[in-house]
Amino acid sequence: MLSRRRFLALAASAAALGGGYTLFEARRVGVTRLDLKLGLGLRAVHLTDTHFSTSVFSPAEVAAAITELDPELIFHTGDLLTYRRGLGEAVRFLEALRDTAPVYLVPGNHDHWSGVGAAGLKEALGSRGIVVLANSATGYGDLAIAGVDDPYTGRANLERALSGAEGEVRLLLAHSPQIIGEAAQRVELVLAGHTHGGQVRLHGAGALWLPMPREYRRFDYGLFSVGRARMFVSRGVGTGYLPVRLNCPPEIVLLSL
Ligand SMILES: [Fe+2]
Repeated sequence: MLSRRRFLALAASAAALGGGYTLFEARRVGVTRLDLKLGLGLRAVHLTDTHFSTSVFSPAEVAAAITELDPELIFHTGDLLTYRRGLGEAVRFLEALRDTAPVYLVPGNHDHWSGVGAAGLKEALGSRGIVVLANSATGYGDLAIAGVDDPYTGRANLERALSGAEGEVRLLLAHSPQIIGEAAQRVELVLAGHTHGGQVRLHGAGALWLPMPREYRRFDYGLFSVGRARMFVSRGVGTGYLPVRLNCPPEIVLLSL
């Protein structure tokens, strides 16, 4: 695994060498379908890491694709923003989603690093009917929906998040998959992002760099079973500081719960 500095240098080289291709891949958001067989009969969309204003996907196209999927619930697992200046566009994007279905969002590390933070997200989104869960919970029928503040920057309080969670099936929204260390025996399902699937993957070598403690780096992308929980880690929709993806296309995820 590379250092962050070497990863950024290599990704920049890949962008230069790959020319338009890596940018092209970063713009093409696909739909991944996942049947989790929880017996709830719910359709939900999971999206993550939209990274306004450094991403290159079309918010209008992604919002339209989500509307087309006709979900009953929409979950965003953080890094809504890279920079504060992306907040206006992010709010318009989430308002479009909210017109389709209830939207639940947890903060990610970049939401904090942007200076907006959990309080700023609540202020900007709460009055618009978008539910920001930062160490808190709500419910939808038999589904308890808990959300922790960002685990990567040490803000997650799982105990507090789960204290208000009532429902037969417990879903936990968390930005970084490293929450699984605490959550594996406490919930049925974790949805996470943060890794971008590595964003740049080489055949045979996988992700070159993942911003997580070493013991959690195997949770780079996909569905995992740990303890009593399953956890899905999405590649995400956007890109961080570099608008580059290679062998790691962006996605929204349609879940059958
Ligand atoms: Fe991210």
